Amino acid sequence: MRHTRVIVTHYGGPDALQVVEEECPEPKIGEVRVRVLAAGVSLPDIMAREGVHPETPPVPFTPGWDLVGMVDRLGDGVSGIEAGQMVAALPIHGAYAEFVCLPQNELVPVPSGLNAAEAVSLVLNYITAYQMLHRSAKVRPGQRVLIHGAAGGVGTALLQLGRLAGVEMYGTCSSLGAPVVSEMGGIPIDYRNQDFVIEIHRLMGEGVDVVFDPIGGTHLWQSRKALRPGGRVVGYGLRSSLRGEGLASGRPGRRQRFGETAIFALYIAGGWLLPGRKRVVPYSIQTLKRLKPEFFRQDLIALLDLLQRKKVKPLIAKTFPLAEARRAHELLGKGGVTGKVVLVGGAS
Ligand SMILES: NC(=O)c1ccc[n+]([C@@H]2O[C@H](COP(=O)([O-])OP(=O)(O)OC[C@H]3O[C@@H](n4cnc5c(N)ncnc54)[C@H](OP(=O)(O)O)[C@@H]3O)[C@@H](O)[C@H]2O)c1
Repeated sequence: MRHTRVIVTHYGGPDALQVVEEECPEPKIGEVRVRVLAAGVSLPDIMAREGVHPETPPVPFTPGWDLVGMVDRLGDGVSGIEAGQMVAALPIHGAYAEFVCLPQNELVPVPSGLNAAEAVSLVLNYITAYQMLHRSAKVRPGQRVLIHGAAGGVGTALLQLGRLAGVEMYGTCSSLGAPVVSEMGGIPIDYRNQDFVIEIHRLMGEGVDVVFDPIGGTHLWQSRKALRPGGRVVGYGLRSSLRGEGLASGRPGRRQRFGETAIFALYIAGGWLLPGRKRVVPYSIQTLKRLKPEFFRQDLIALLDLLQRKKVKPLIAKTFPLAEARRAHELLGKGGVTGKVVLVGGAS
């Protein structure tokens, strides 16, 4: 049987994505073959395509951090799972394909009847948001938080889960995203036309308890200025390594990320050494999953339960067929997208 997958042929723009047709992979011992129903498209995918994400594999590779699919075939030694069962996984790369083979222990069961595009939004974006809120920041009801990129994939997840946690929310976004941020319970701050540090101190004097910062670089230090004493910045991305249109700043390959990571480390150290008890702490879904795989499983099961009970409703910005992955990257890279972009179903 043949199947379709998308590969990144070289580090670069959306034209680096190519659709290939080849023999369907066979599951090895302990593996399960999954027919992908929905694969998330996220900024980390774009950063891997550009070669600037810490998890970038060597080219050629198939991108795709997260997926929801149907169990299709079991490898030898696999038990306790059946063909036709819906599952979710965070393979980090490889999800832009009709079929993928994954170790059984990477799969989390998805309750039947859930929409695959909504369920896949939980795997990367909502787990990131949930773990930052409850494991990194340990927010309490009534606390004030600033969410950067509030109209984006992770940002809208932070807004929904922050509302459930009873925190007061402020969110930076462009003017296009402001209505969504307000609707989801946040107070929008237009990052293109307003200085968020001035705006936060104008709105609440002392500053916020927590800032969630996916921008990275010198932006982390600005975020620290928006904190009240004793507050913390949770830094979780290096958006600043991309220009507009979701492109890296010119230097090709996988080197640039080390400079950004060094700045991050400097700010973490500065947070501890400088007065004001304002900390900068990093969050990484893949690092936490490697260190504590049970947290990932527990948190995804909790989020799937919230989805089933309609306590959360992921915002789907747009769905594309797998073969149109390039258009999906162009859309996300251009910006102004509210919610999650998803690749659905086979190659058609
Ligand atoms: N550490 C982890 O474990 C982890 C996990 C998942 C994601 N991430 C990171 O999370 C970030 C967001 O990913 P995503 O998939 O949610 O991306 P996304 O859907 O593209 O959202 C990003 C949002 O950021 C906004 N934005 C861009 N520049 C901004 C600025 N200077 N200030 C405030 N907002 C700005 C964009 O608004 P406009 O388009 O309107 O300009 C967009 O709404 C990425 O950096 C990614 O690497 C990290």
